[in-house]
Amino acid sequence: MDRRIFLNSGLVAGAAAFGMGSQGLAAENKKIRILGISCSPRKGMTTATSVEVALNAAKEMGSNIQTELIDLGGMIFSGWNGTGKFKEDDFDQFVLSKLRDPAPDGLIIGSPVYFRNASSLCMSFLERLATLRKPKLLLADVAVGVLSVGAYRNGGQEMVIQQIQTAMLCHEVMIVGGKPGAHQGATLWNSDSDNIMKDDFGIKTAKQLGTRVAEAALHLG
Ligand SMILES: Cc1cc2nc3c(=O)[nH]c(=O)nc-3n(C[C@H](O)[C@H](O)[C@H](O)COP(=O)(O)O)c2cc1C
Repeated sequence: MDRRIFLNSGLVAGAAAFGMGSQGLAAENKKIRILGISCSPRKGMTTATSVEVALNAAKEMGSNIQTELIDLGGMIFSGWNGTGKFKEDDFDQFVLSKLRDPAPDGLIIGSPVYFRNASSLCMSFLERLATLRKPKLLLADVAVGVLSVGAYRNGGQEMVIQQIQTAMLCHEVMIVGGKPGAHQGATLWNSDSDNIMKDDFGIKTAKQLGTRVAEAALHLG
């Protein structure tokens, strides 16, 4: 059954009413694909590690869950331009194909906080996703969770999360937060020389986010 028809049919509510658990809806042999996107220009640093932590937690939610990290660090691509036509760049080559062939069941997007906003790389990524809106909304009903990493404890992480969530609503995705402690999304604090694993609280929120995205993807997938 098509995912959209399924959602409209009210079966989701019905399944919830019957107390079906986190793995109750997707057929157990159906592969559920969850992609993580790290939007820091610094490849493999704190944002990438945090997204990876979330993906690993997501994977633990089912043997049929496959995860993959797309680290935008080092990639070169622009945001939207006036024409919507682009010379083939890293976005087309390394990102777009993973998002539409077929669309993933879940997405975990992470950005560093840059002056209380998402990174420009993240904004370019979000703008280029416009390609996936026509002729039909390819990301509709995809479970999306967001995380953000800042160097300050209250450096703007929640604002960045909200910024990304707001942009993704234009795709009719299903925005989710995390399990308790991470209800808005995961908030991480890089207070110790880029060793994000030392941020116990933040790492827990990343895990809680991954768990919730997987739960939602299993329901929707
Ligand atoms: C241009 C710039 C602006 C930043 N602005 C903020 C900020 O407003 N709040 C904050 O908490 N951290 C800020 N930071 C720190 C980064 O968010 C932090 O170091 C983060 O861990 C970087 O992610 P990465 O390790 O994945 O590159 C800023 C860093 C840069 C380079």
